[in-house]
Amino acid sequence: MSIGSGRVLKASTDRYEKIRGAGDIDTTLLLEELKHRYRHSLSPVDVSFRSLVEWVRTGDQFTHQIHPYPAKLLPHIANFFIRASSIRKGDQQVLDPFCGSGTVALEASLAGAQPLIADANPFALLLTKVKTTPYDPEALLRAAEILRKRITRLRTAPEVPVVNEELWYDPKTKKSLEIILRAVMELEDDCIRDFFRICFSVVARRLSFADPSISVPVRLKQKPSLSNKANEAISAQIRWLENATPSTEFFRVVQSNIERVLSANRLSPKRSAAIPVGMDARKLELTDGRRLPNNSVNLTITSPPYGSAQKYVRASSLSLNWLSLCDPNQLANLEGLSIGREHLSAKRRSSGEAFSGSSRFHKLLENIRKKNPSRSIITETYLTEMTAALRELHRVTAVDGHVVIVIGNNTVTGLHLENDRYITEVMEDLGFELELALADRIHSRGLMTVRNKNAGLISAETILMLRKRAA
Ligand SMILES: C[S@@+](CC[C@H](N)C(=O)[O-])C[C@H]1O[C@@H](n2cnc3c(N)ncnc32)[C@H](O)[C@@H]1O
Repeated sequence: MSIGSGRVLKASTDRYEKIRGAGDIDTTLLLEELKHRYRHSLSPVDVSFRSLVEWVRTGDQFTHQIHPYPAKLLPHIANFFIRASSIRKGDQQVLDPFCGSGTVALEASLAGAQPLIADANPFALLLTKVKTTPYDPEALLRAAEILRKRITRLRTAPEVPVVNEELWYDPKTKKSLEIILRAVMELEDDCIRDFFRICFSVVARRLSFADPSISVPVRLKQKPSLSNKANEAISAQIRWLENATPSTEFFRVVQSNIERVLSANRLSPKRSAAIPVGMDARKLELTDGRRLPNNSVNLTITSPPYGSAQKYVRASSLSLNWLSLCDPNQLANLEGLSIGREHLSAKRRSSGEAFSGSSRFHKLLENIRKKNPSRSIITETYLTEMTAALRELHRVTAVDGHVVIVIGNNTVTGLHLENDRYITEVMEDLGFELELALADRIHSRGLMTVRNKNAGLISAETILMLRKRAA
């Protein structure tokens, strides 16, 4: 496909799309088999979703990779549960209250369901909306042509405040990016503009001096502790950044992302774009401010933040600033709305709800406190805030509806924090029945590479499937 000529060439269909497009995949029998095995063993059944869900390709597919996002869910997991007619019960809504980059929402919309999404990070909401929208590629190509002309013509643009910008950009690149952004923001159609804002955000990060291999911005620089090969790669990357032409890079991203939209359209041309239901999993609400109705959702699939350092806001800080979703001086406040924070302000430390977990978790918190009082408060806050989100999930779930939660365990001050066990205990107390627990090894979780020394790495994730019992 070429944007310059305005022609849309049909990209080759691959076998994965053909199988997925057949629309006759129903995982109900597989799910029943797993439930049967779980009922007999009563401990998580080992499963590799990559092998089990072989009709889902790994890597770049549809619009999954229109923009990077940390700790993305494996699409296979979402696809597996969405494809089970026994829990899907028709073409109804699928909720993800911690949507992140929108993996569940995209899989739901490709399978013909209506995704409902929430996230504390406004960039995640924008990304998920763009990812699930069935754009007309011709309209995107026309807008790309308009942009190409505008960007050549424009000489000035408003300055955009970006946190520590002198660290991330040389002034010439920053100016060129501002001109591209101005051209994008002058596009008339809101929905099309959002597509190009996401493309712009990819380029703004790619042309920064932030290390591309780390999800949070960390300045690229050579270090004596690194191998010669690694240092050479860093200097090559810096040379590339000094010579890159922002508009060329921008249109490269635009072209790839239009191809991704085309591929999603071929599979599911009439898919539904995600509908936001708030910015806090603890308070799900419709766009008019009314609460999402009680007992209204049959299927939720979600991967909440873990009980250890998660830096979703920091990882998106450049995008949040560039796209005016958050001022540089408001990033800390935004982070304060996230569950699973690394730091807590003095105010947050003293104003929390009393911890209502079982004696097992009270004891764990006490043991953490003996080693590190501050970590104990951070962990307690995480568990209490997760409880509030699970309570809200119980409120909106229909009787006999299902909630699938993907979660990992971690260590705090060397002690094992069983997030999966905690969630199961709280959900059972609320009135859910655990029907299935699976364990899958993690293959790639963006945020797990850099880890606070007090919060250990996660090596496996648990998939819990719970059914809401009648009161
Ligand atoms: C593990 S990530 C979800 C990743 C997602 N499944 C994907 O594939 O990209 C957890 C998400 O929870 C969000 N989050 C944290 N606190 C939240 C809250 N109070 N309400 C809603 N979302 C929240 C974070 O911003 C992050 O995007």
